[in-house]
Amino acid sequence: MNLQIRDDMPDLSMSTPLSLDALSSNLMLDTPGVDLWRARRHLLDTKDLTKVEVECALRFAAVCKKLCQLEIAPLPVLNSKVVANIFYENSTRTRSSFELAARRLGATVLNLDVQSSSVAKGETLLDTAQTLIAMGVHAIVQRHASSGSAHRLSEAFHDKVHVLNAGDGWNAHPTQGLLDLFTMLEVMPDLCGAKVAIVGDISHSRVARSNIWLLKLFGAHIHLAGPPTLMPPEISKLGVTVHNQLEPAIEDADFVIALRIQLERQKKGEIPSLSEYKKLYRLDHHRLKLAKPTARVLHPGPVNRGVELTDHLADDPELSLIRTQVANGVAVRMAVLYLLLASKEAKS
Ligand code: CP
Repeated sequence: MNLQIRDDMPDLSMSTPLSLDALSSNLMLDTPGVDLWRARRHLLDTKDLTKVEVECALRFAAVCKKLCQLEIAPLPVLNSKVVANIFYENSTRTRSSFELAARRLGATVLNLDVQSSSVAKGETLLDTAQTLIAMGVHAIVQRHASSGSAHRLSEAFHDKVHVLNAGDGWNAHPTQGLLDLFTMLEVMPDLCGAKVAIVGDISHSRVARSNIWLLKLFGAHIHLAGPPTLMPPEISKLGVTVHNQLEPAIEDADFVIALRIQLERQKKGEIPSLSEYKKLYRLDHHRLKLAKPTARVLHPGPVNRGVELTDHLADDPELSLIRTQVANGVAVRMAVLYLLLASKEAKS
């Protein structure tokens, strides 16, 4: 999939302030998949998405990235909308980039401080959401430790609010999957037959699950590597190849995605010792020589420096895509917010 902006796209830098009509045509509302997004209320999981929808979102993300690079955004496309971030778990990247994305589309952003909210007094997730909806919130971006919580919210308030899952338990982190895919497609426009290794704590990783669904949709061969205690027993049923050793997983790989080891789990004895983990699975320049010479490394963040990969590799501007992933997160989140909230209105 080619993420280049199409040649006939007008020079947006010449047309500020943009009218909604101009923007709608520049944002390619005739792109296949827009009708599917118009019919969609929520973004809960990557496994719900068709390839056409994913390609549509990534085309929009490419345009949004360009708009940000040209410093044309903020755009007046979500001016009447209110987007609420409700994060029951900590976040740097996802929360900040959803906020930036919404602001760059002109939306009002409400960041609920869960720690100091009435959640501390026992208010339920659904009551919190209902309260915000009563105040006129149009979209809730939610992160929660409980798998399935975003689905629950979407079922309870299907017609009242758009729900965007910003990570629920071990289940899904759809915008992370989309931004990882976008980042890989920028490097390699055709992922069909590409080898992608995912290394680390697969059991507890919503990122791994969201990536697997999308990468399969684009024809990549997925190889997982990690300690047996961090590998779900049934995972090979998803059509992936499972290794307990790092080397066969990364051999000839086009991309290697290192996952965060959740150190809090180590304290509870759920993962092997860190020193053993580093000895067997930590990525470094030497080990990466097993992969293709063009291979690139990704990590969803936050990185445990020196655990999943060496500092030298994490900061290598040639081999590491970590900063590009972060930058692309804003564009991808602009795209999904636009498609869920604005594209419906743009048609009428
Ligand atoms: N990748 C990711 O979800 O990072 P944050 O926890 O910082 O949002």
